[in-house]
Order: sequence, then C-alpha cells, then structure tokens
Amino acid sequence: MAKVQSRYVCQGCGAVAAKWSGRCESCGAWNSMTEEVLEKTPGGLSARGKGSQKLTFVDLHSQSEPQPRMVCGLAEFDRVTGGGLVPGSAVLVAGDPGIGKSTLLLQVAARLAGGSSQTSATCAYISGEESIDQVRLRARRMGLAQAPVQLATATSVRDMVASLDQPQGPSVVIVDSVQTLYIDSLESAPGTVSQVRAAAQELIRLAKKRGFSLILVGHVTKEGQIAGPKVLEHMVDTVLTFEGDRGHHFRILRASKNRFGPTDEIGVFEMTDRGLEEVANPSALFLAERRGNVAGAAVFAGLEGTRPLLVEIQALVSASPQATPRRAVVGWDSSRLAMVLAVLEARCGLALAGQEVYLNVAGGLRIGEPAADLAVAAALVSAATGQEVPEETVIFGEIGLSGEIRPVSQVELRLKEAEKLGFSRAWVAPRAKKGAGKARLEGNGLAVEEISHLQDLVGRLAKPQSRSLRAQPSAH
Ligand code: TYD
Ligand code: MG
Repeated sequence: MAKVQSRYVCQGCGAVAAKWSGRCESCGAWNSMTEEVLEKTPGGLSARGKGSQKLTFVDLHSQSEPQPRMVCGLAEFDRVTGGGLVPGSAVLVAGDPGIGKSTLLLQVAARLAGGSSQTSATCAYISGEESIDQVRLRARRMGLAQAPVQLATATSVRDMVASLDQPQGPSVVIVDSVQTLYIDSLESAPGTVSQVRAAAQELIRLAKKRGFSLILVGHVTKEGQIAGPKVLEHMVDTVLTFEGDRGHHFRILRASKNRFGPTDEIGVFEMTDRGLEEVANPSALFLAERRGNVAGAAVFAGLEGTRPLLVEIQALVSASPQATPRRAVVGWDSSRLAMVLAVLEARCGLALAGQEVYLNVAGGLRIGEPAADLAVAAALVSAATGQEVPEETVIFGEIGLSGEIRPVSQVELRLKEAEKLGFSRAWVAPRAKKGAGKARLEGNGLAVEEISHLQDLVGRLAKPQSRSLRAQPSAH
C-alpha cells in the first residue's frame, strides 16, 4: 500500500525538511516552508516490481549523425548558446523582471520560424504572462507580426503536454515564464518550488522524448517569496542569464552553464524601441561615452569568452567624514576591490584607509576577470593622485598579494582589439614569453609596456607635488 507522506520545502533555497518550521534552517528565510505531498512506497524497489524494464547498454560511438543545431541568425544569441539550439535540449533564460527576456525570445522565435535562419524550424511561443493581444502588439511594434510563429497562451502543463506530445510538433518551444506554470495534481500554488520543479521536469522530459528544443523563461526573484531559477539550474542543459543595468540600454546574455558549448561567452544587445539589436563591436559602444582623459579613469582590455572587450573603469577617492569610510562598487567584485586597496596600502604605501572609495564599470557591464585588477588599481591611484592615465592606454594584469603583477591569458587578442580601436599604448602584465609578440605589436603602432610590480604603476601615476599620495599615513 502506498503511504502518503509530506515534506516541507523552502521556497527560497529549495531545502527540504521533515517538519514545518517558521524559518528555513538552510537559508534563514522566514515563512518560506511550504508543504509538499509525496507518495512513497515503503521498503526498497524490488527487481521484479511491476512495470520495471531492463536497461539496454550501448557503445559510446554512434552510427547516426547528430541532428543539426538550430541557428536563429541573431549572432549574439547563437554564440552564447554554443552555436545554435540543440534538438531535445532545455535552455533556461533567467533574468530580472522587465529586463527584456520576452522581447529577446520573441525575436529569436520570429527568426527561427521566419526562415531568416539557416535551418527553418517550426516554433511555438507559449505565454503564460501576457495575453495573445499583448504579444501581438509587441510583435507589431518590433515589425515581426508576419513571422509564422505559433502563438498560444497557457499555464496548465497538462494542456501543453496534450498539444505538444505528437510526432509533428514544433521543433522549438518557448515557455514564458516557468513561474506561471502549474500542474493540477500538485496542491501548491504556481511559482512555488514544487510546481516550478515539477512543471519544468515534465516539459524537459517531453522535449527529450519529442526532440524539440525547449526554452524556459525564469524570473530571478527577490529571495524568499517565489521559486527562482536556481532550483532549475541542475535540470536544464543550458542556463543563460540576461542581465543589464536598468539605467543603461545595453543588455548582456551570458551562458552560466552549457552542456553544449563554452560558458564564458556573452552576447551584447542594445535596447531600442524596435526590440533588441545585436552589438557586433561592443568595445566601441562601451567606450563611446568616454570623456577624454580624466583622473580616475582607466581602460581595461578584458576578455569575455572568446571575444575581447574594452571597458572603462572609473574610480573616485574622497576624504570621508565617517569613521568607517564608504566603499561602493558597481560592476565588479567588492572583495576584490578590498584586496586591491589593501595591496596598494601595504605594498605601495598609498594611504586610502580613511578615504571613501567608489568604483564603477562604465556601461553597466559586470566584470569577473582577475585581469581587471591592474586597471582598477590604475583608476584608483589616478583618482587618489589626480594624475591621469596617459591618453589612449589600455591596461590589464592580475595583482598578487605581494604586489606582483601576474600574467593573464590571451594577451595578443586583447592587444589586437586595443589597436583596432585606436589605442596607442598598453600597460600589461609581464608575459611568459618575452620579446616575440612585443616587437610585432609595436611595429603596428601599439607600445606595449610591461609592469611587473604595483609600485611601478604607482610610480607612473604619482606626481611629485601630489596632494593625496602620502608615503606615510601620519603625513597630516
Ligand atoms: P520584456 O521583454 O517584457 O521583459 P521581461 O520579459 O524580461 O519581463 O521587456 C520589458 C519592457 O521593455 C517592455 O515594455 C518592452 C521594453 N523593451 C523595449 O522597448 N525594447 C527592447 O529592446 C527591450 C528588450 C524591451
Ligand atoms: Mg516577460
């Protein structure tokens, strides 16, 4: 006899407990435990139980050619997916509400269905959030109304399965969003961990069975209330996060997990009134707002996936009236900033402890690379001394705790991009193989100067009459 059991699942982090409690023991969220009923057969599974089947083991090599990937023609999207959508796979597109997920996926759907892609596909767009008219209105505004996308509104997974579980179904199915889905056999409300997980599981199973490519939209929500895409990450093949700053018109699609491609690729889009436009040369765009040479600004030659990306890093250092000065960072890791500040203080004698420090990556980009250390340090030192970084200079290098500058990868690629955008000088980490690349790049008009210690950088940016650069904190 099957025994009915229940367990309690935290809607914030997905932790499971046998008993209800007011506060999740795992993540500390209040009032986030909800009951989930599960049927359990007592004892272990017997080999001769009803409905069991023997597994068929096969070789690793296969005779059949894999099905081609579906390329939508939006190069920025295709690159992030690792070269197109894989049939039978599940992709989760996660992002803040209002960031542009529905807009992006409607464009992808229209491209895939409309034959502007290399492989023509039938594409279904199922919206659980917007009405048919709303989606149509959006399509008309973006000039996509004629694309042969199959549009439907639904929230019941049972209805979706009933319409998609057929041999001649669509080859791409987009479900917007996973938080609106519900399975009627579960008691919890749509958006709870159990509903989101069960609904996604059901659709993913169907995608594998019927060979369509499933794209799920998931809102990243404030912790606690509704199940975020975190609980789905392990179930899907690919997780793409769509991010950007509301104050800026850039949007970045980033692969944070990809079973079919690299995970460090980004796609850059610009928001317009006609939808998202691809940005083929993001460096030019991120540097477009640069205001000549000012103290506290440095250009970092970074790398996002296979693509070099130049961004401006801005710093502000000012005297603080408070006992604990403020440190604020936008677009970079705050603990990394603390480390760079500590190294500047301990190894170079730069007194920043009593100063407020603000750091900003221009354009709303988020940088995760340690190679940005040197550019951050340059912006900070320049802000503190008032001495500008020489014009048309790009900077990159990782800083070690003793102040040494460590080599970074893909130096040539970074330098080439800098040169392409008209930079004339580069301050770089010492390269493993000295000499070879240097001469060639200098010949092309880019003077490469290696910086082996942070003190060298500070020396370049220190003015003899500098006001705030003090060798000893006791100078005042
Ligand atoms: P939407 O795609 O609905 O966001 P999400 O699905 O992530 O919640 O976009 C939010 C709003 O921004 C919507 O009113 C349309 C507008 N928008 C544009 O006008 N142009 C664009 O390029 C994008 C991406 C959005
Ligand atoms: Mg939406």
